[in-house]
Amino acid sequence: MVSFVVVGCGRISEIHLKAIEKAKNARLAAVCDIVEEKAKEKALLYNVPYYTDLEEMLKKEKPDVAIIGTPSGMHGEHTIKCAGHGAHVLCEKPIEITREKIDSMINVCREKGVLLGGIYQRRTYSGAIAAKKAIEDGQIGKLILCDGYFKYHRSQEYYDSDSWRGTWSLDGGGALMNQCIHGIDMLLMLCGDIMSVTAKCETLARSIEVEDTAVILVKYKNGALGVIEAATSLSEGSDTIFEIHGAQGNISFGDSCFYKWQTINNSPMPCVTDSMGGKNCGWAEEDGHRILVEDMAQCVLTGKSPLIPPEEARRAVDVILAIYQSAKTGKEAFIND
Ligand SMILES: NC(=O)c1ccc[n+]([C@@H]2O[C@H](COP(=O)([O-])OP(=O)(O)OC[C@H]3O[C@@H](n4cnc5c(N)ncnc54)[C@H](O)[C@@H]3O)[C@@H](O)[C@H]2O)c1
Repeated sequence: MVSFVVVGCGRISEIHLKAIEKAKNARLAAVCDIVEEKAKEKALLYNVPYYTDLEEMLKKEKPDVAIIGTPSGMHGEHTIKCAGHGAHVLCEKPIEITREKIDSMINVCREKGVLLGGIYQRRTYSGAIAAKKAIEDGQIGKLILCDGYFKYHRSQEYYDSDSWRGTWSLDGGGALMNQCIHGIDMLLMLCGDIMSVTAKCETLARSIEVEDTAVILVKYKNGALGVIEAATSLSEGSDTIFEIHGAQGNISFGDSCFYKWQTINNSPMPCVTDSMGGKNCGWAEEDGHRILVEDMAQCVLTGKSPLIPPEEARRAVDVILAIYQSAKTGKEAFIND
């Protein structure tokens, strides 16, 4: 069994803990949070020791893998500490909030001989994999327009609930760096690298220093164009929508289903039984965190590479940093290679 520890016992930690519980070849060794009550609560629930000091947990428990679920701008520091103690790392999105910090995480993990994997659980959904395969197989022809509409609601209370939320220093941005990064990562997975972005970012509805609303014109390396609309400023009930148009077909989907599946070979809209047990025509919410934990356990046991290597997890952050640069300068910004 591969031993896992969870670093950060906040909102996302319950998903990490359940994922470890369900994953093959994985066992939970301990949890850690600087806020004792949070660590203690999870420790009691899962019957493992808790720590309020990461170094102490690493020294005593010598875990195979640490899952990092601390505020985004702390991922680098915590990853590097874990790597220093020989622990492989599975790190929440965004992997970090600056290019420099991500590169130093990658370098340190390489030097220490430990693996570093990113978390974008939606990459594991069967609907996403089916759409990627159809696009890669040329089933909608040459890509023309690849659009993403990521319209979220996050209340002022959400932003006020923790001092790191909605800050440049620890959230790394607003709607884009925290929520819409999932959608941007999905566009990269489906449509390929983005070459440049031209953006407007505004703070229209929340009292925060970062953006709650953005509109972006996108140019992909393969020549396709697209738009991204990203927000946390909207009222509840807006859907996430992807619209991928090729010269010979269209694929579009939202949070819960495919809307359009028009391919050259007239293949039927893929129906999947999701891993939560439901039957869903197309897009299904699946337990992606469990799949990524199981994958990391497999990496430790077999030496294979993580499903989402750090260079892959970095791509969406690079795009978002370019979006911020474009919004600041008013000019088209090109993505770092
Ligand atoms: N994959 C997803 O869908 C998803 C969803 C939610 C959050 N996240 C990511 O997970 C991370 C955490 O988000 P959250 O909403 O759970 O935040 P949160 O504020 O609820 O939890 C973070 C926890 O980290 C703890 N912490 C801070 N410094 C620490 C340290 N040195 N050692 C141990 N613990 C420490 C805090 O006390 C807090 O309990 C963020 O990067 C976020 O982007 C991912």
